[in-house]
Amino acid sequence: MIGIDSIAFYTSHYYLDVDTLAEARCIDKAKFHNGLNIDKISFPSPGTDIVTLAANAAEKALKGKDRSAIDMLLFATESGIDQSKSAGIYVHALLGLQESCRVVELKQACYAATIGIQMALDMIRVNPQKKVLVIASDVAKYELEGPGEPTQGCGAVAMVLSSKPSLLVFDQHFGAYTQDVMDFWRPNYSEVPYVDGKYSMQIYLEGLERTWERYQQRSKRTFSDHINFCYHVPFPSLVEKAHRTLAAMNQQKITASELTKLLAPTIAYNRMNGNCYTASLYLSLISLLENANQDLAGQRIGLYSYGSGCAAEFFSAEVVPGYRHVIDDNFHKDLFRKRQALTFDEYLAFYHYQLPDDGSPHDVPYYATGRFRLSHYKDHKRYYTDEVRSC
Ligand code: HMG
Repeated sequence: MIGIDSIAFYTSHYYLDVDTLAEARCIDKAKFHNGLNIDKISFPSPGTDIVTLAANAAEKALKGKDRSAIDMLLFATESGIDQSKSAGIYVHALLGLQESCRVVELKQACYAATIGIQMALDMIRVNPQKKVLVIASDVAKYELEGPGEPTQGCGAVAMVLSSKPSLLVFDQHFGAYTQDVMDFWRPNYSEVPYVDGKYSMQIYLEGLERTWERYQQRSKRTFSDHINFCYHVPFPSLVEKAHRTLAAMNQQKITASELTKLLAPTIAYNRMNGNCYTASLYLSLISLLENANQDLAGQRIGLYSYGSGCAAEFFSAEVVPGYRHVIDDNFHKDLFRKRQALTFDEYLAFYHYQLPDDGSPHDVPYYATGRFRLSHYKDHKRYYTDEVRSC
């Protein structure tokens, strides 16, 4: 029995309402609300980056846990801040993890946290006393005025994996799929990705079909063995397409209202956050655990992970009885509720904010960033502060 012992999400304190974006871009608001099924997008202020998002999420996931038991930190991201140094090293320091804890950064678009989980499971199978911290953290930034702009977002999910999980137990069976495709990619010189949007949706759905077939062959499980499904969420209406595709493959009829009802808890948080790449599937999982109307104890959840380029995987997990005592939905609901709306001009100012690239000293303007903050930059080095420890 190996799985998730604790899980937490963190995002920016600031968001852009898609109505504000629609007005500025002269686009029908219904396209964003109904066509893409997005209401708000979290946008990082100066001082927030993948490190601060990750450290804030992990601080919550580790609350009340013995940090010295964490043997490995796997940091999944596709919006890395350095070509050499893992963002996880900064987080390791901010969290005060032990010196013997191994740290590495993993990359394969939105898929990387999933391979992180599989690596953690393999390690814990061999050493059941070990614990692994898997963090998925990303800033999804697209070209201004491009079709991806309303699907931006940011956030991090931190998960502690152990052989005595209190939330979810992962099944051993999975179906994987890898293809060399150019649906979404970001060359080193570009701050935003190049995207073939419609093609990316086609490959996402193709990956779902291939991974489901392999998963099903290996696990011998049927569609109805899974009470709920969580999918990677680049924008929530694609999740509806994904579920319709999977249902049709399995000769299941599902009406539009049944689909909306089934998926509502799994996309509730994503609709308020936008894409957060590696963290997106796991935000959907948190959303399901915290927003489902019924008790999920003992139920199996099907999980579909997709990362452009592309790598995909279908796998599953069973919810541990008693999970409701472990989740802290007030934490996430407060996080979303207390966010501050940006005007369109403030959004543009955040969008264009850059750290100097000549090594000159720079104090990052102060915004609410949670406990951890990128406070200054000097000699090409990032300096972070911990608001609690510095007091
Ligand atoms: P678009 O130009 O907005 O597409 O781009 P559209 O004009 O087809 O409109 C989208 C939907 O809105 C359509 O619904 C329209 O009908 C509807 P559909 O026909 O598909 O069901 N619509 C309206 N609905 C109500 N009222 C209206 C209205 N007008 C139109 N007035 C696209 C959409 C997704 C291509 C774009 O946002 C994009 O390029 N996004 C980025 C790429 C992406 O998210 N791809 C998803 C799969 S790849 C993936 O998941 C990986 C990723 O996370 C990255 C990674 O792995 O690292 C992206």
